[in-house]
Amino acid sequence: MRDFIKKLPKAELHLHIEGSLEPELMFELAKRNDIRLNYSSVDEIRAAYNFSNLQDFLDIYYAGAGVLQKEEDFFDLTWAYLKRCKEDNIVHTEIFFDPQTHTDRGISFATAFNGIKRALKKAEDDFQISSEIIMCFLRHLDEKAAFETLEQASEFKDDIIAVGLDSSEVGHPPSKFQRVFEKALGEGYLTVAHAGEEGDPSYIWEALDLLKVKRIDHGVRCLEDKELVARLKEEQIPLTVCPLSNIKLRVFDQMKDHNIKALLDEGLMAMINSDDPSYFGGYLNENYFQVAEALDCSKEEIKQLAMNSFSSSFLSEDKKNIYIQKIKEEL
Ligand code: HPA
Ligand code: ZN
Repeated sequence: MRDFIKKLPKAELHLHIEGSLEPELMFELAKRNDIRLNYSSVDEIRAAYNFSNLQDFLDIYYAGAGVLQKEEDFFDLTWAYLKRCKEDNIVHTEIFFDPQTHTDRGISFATAFNGIKRALKKAEDDFQISSEIIMCFLRHLDEKAAFETLEQASEFKDDIIAVGLDSSEVGHPPSKFQRVFEKALGEGYLTVAHAGEEGDPSYIWEALDLLKVKRIDHGVRCLEDKELVARLKEEQIPLTVCPLSNIKLRVFDQMKDHNIKALLDEGLMAMINSDDPSYFGGYLNENYFQVAEALDCSKEEIKQLAMNSFSSSFLSEDKKNIYIQKIKEEL
């Protein structure tokens, strides 16, 4: 099964680029930028990755991002992820970046964006990996800060396909950002949002109805609401599920309790992603391996998940069909 998974072409649609910062690179960048870390070794950093919920993780994730200072740092971060994409046979990736995590520390939008974009362009040239950038608003911050971020993005608009919503979910419902998303939609951005990771199904309803999202990021709590499942199925709204993330952040106790197969059985458009691979113990293929093993998936189910990754992407219909056809032909 592992070889089968490895050779399937895959798209990744839920990946926070700041969440791909490996402890080794964190250390190297801290040294390069003369920043003091609260850890004295790579092992100590890894040992701290013992989360009991989303907020626990976010506290460490925002602290780690502090080593990213110069355009070159953002390039190195993104390039390291793209090399992993090549290894995992990811041929298309739509990555999130959190401008506010950087602008709030005095790092300009342009510094972060240009470093990321340059690495994506190199991956297109060197590895034929296509990509898109999705800019996320941090939902624990206020609406005004999100409007300011949207304004800062205007210069880079042609290279940003969508806006999204991430960070602490509970207590920060999609409705808080309805007006910002309306403005973004008016400017031609597509929209996505994290919803139904820790938040209840009302967060998913709001993301659909108020933010007009094309995809729900996570969405695993949808099964608690039959009417919502019917809506998601009817409209084939993609759910960008992140299995290892859900285990690490205790959304499910163990992989064998994960509901991704149940989502497929309901006829929902779910697929597998890695979320913050450096923090959650594995890149995309590792997520597939652990799901396949714990849930005893058939090759057909794995193929379905890989096909769904393309169907749910922002690629053209022609490109989607080329990859889907390739997967169909795999035995
Ligand atoms: N959920 C919410 N916000 C995030 C995540 C996540 O999994 N990763 C990075 N920011
Ligand atoms: Zn996420």
